Amino acid sequence: MREKTALVTGANKGIGLEIARQLGGKGFRLWLGCRDPGRGERAAIELRKAGVDARALLLDVTSDASVAKAASTFGEASNHLDVLVNNAGIDIGGFALPREQRVDDIRAIYEVNTFGPIRVTQAFLPFLEKAGSARIVMMSSSLGSITSALDPTSETYGVNRLGYNSSKSALNMITVLFAKTLAAHGIKVNAANPGYTGTDLNEHHGPRTVEEGAAIAVRLATIGPACPTAGFFRRPLQQPSPPRVVTAPGDRRLLVRFPGMRYRGGTFVRDGRFHGSRSLWHR
Ligand SMILES: NC(=O)c1ccc[n+]([C@@H]2O[C@H](COP(=O)([O-])OP(=O)(O)OC[C@H]3O[C@@H](n4cnc5c(N)ncnc54)[C@H](OP(=O)(O)O)[C@@H]3O)[C@@H](O)[C@H]2O)c1
Repeated sequence: MREKTALVTGANKGIGLEIARQLGGKGFRLWLGCRDPGRGERAAIELRKAGVDARALLLDVTSDASVAKAASTFGEASNHLDVLVNNAGIDIGGFALPREQRVDDIRAIYEVNTFGPIRVTQAFLPFLEKAGSARIVMMSSSLGSITSALDPTSETYGVNRLGYNSSKSALNMITVLFAKTLAAHGIKVNAANPGYTGTDLNEHHGPRTVEEGAAIAVRLATIGPACPTAGFFRRPLQQPSPPRVVTAPGDRRLLVRFPGMRYRGGTFVRDGRFHGSRSLWHR
């Protein structure tokens, strides 16, 4: 039987490393797309120690040349790719308001979060098509939801990060357009929202663990032929129901309660600016 192969971008740490670990546990041969060879090799060694068939693949998602070289290196070892997880992502610019965020910063975010997944998907399509029923997962975010951005009861209402949020909104459309046009090849393309997960991306403020954050991407990477394509999926079904906003009328602070978690703090919004949310939720 031919081996199952998976490529995860940004796989040297955070949710990406955990996605690779969980896919490895399901019998996939893992290619860890990493922009730094040292960090990539260290991650591959860590996963191999855990019994995963893992190898580092030098891949900077912002570079056409790097992505083309990575596809060529992959092609020397394998002619098919069963799973691609476009996970690499960044956010820069701190808590700048939309009127303040530098266009150069926004452009840099788009290079990784938006153009990166397009670049990598296009380069690896020949291998994905050969797999017969490949799965592509785009790591999106609730911050990309235009519905949530307009909903004052949403936990993300006060998070107005121009570059990051819009990069993920665009990624959602990219997901849909790839899904529609690749369906004839048996390929399913879905967007995963890991939830607010403690990683370097948010200085480990997110209350969810990487194991929880990775679960939805792993599920979408391994769905069967009857499952949907072109969707946006949050957390697995057993996760708690949506948070409840408990802000008093006239209070400018936005306080959010998560069902099943003990409340110790909140997310603060003043003058439309997000003032941070710390890891204040405990199960
Ligand atoms: N954490 C959350 O709460 C959360 C919520 C919603 C969505 N997400 C999304 O989930 C994904 C993973 O985030 P995370 O929280 O695990 O972040 P993380 O711990 O900061 O990891 C990000 C990964 O992306 C890699 N990366 C950055 N720029 C790259 C480039 N140009 N080429 C290749 N790899 C690059 C990083 O590599 P280096 O180590 O070399 O920098 C790192 O491996 C992102 O797409 C993020 O937007 C996260």
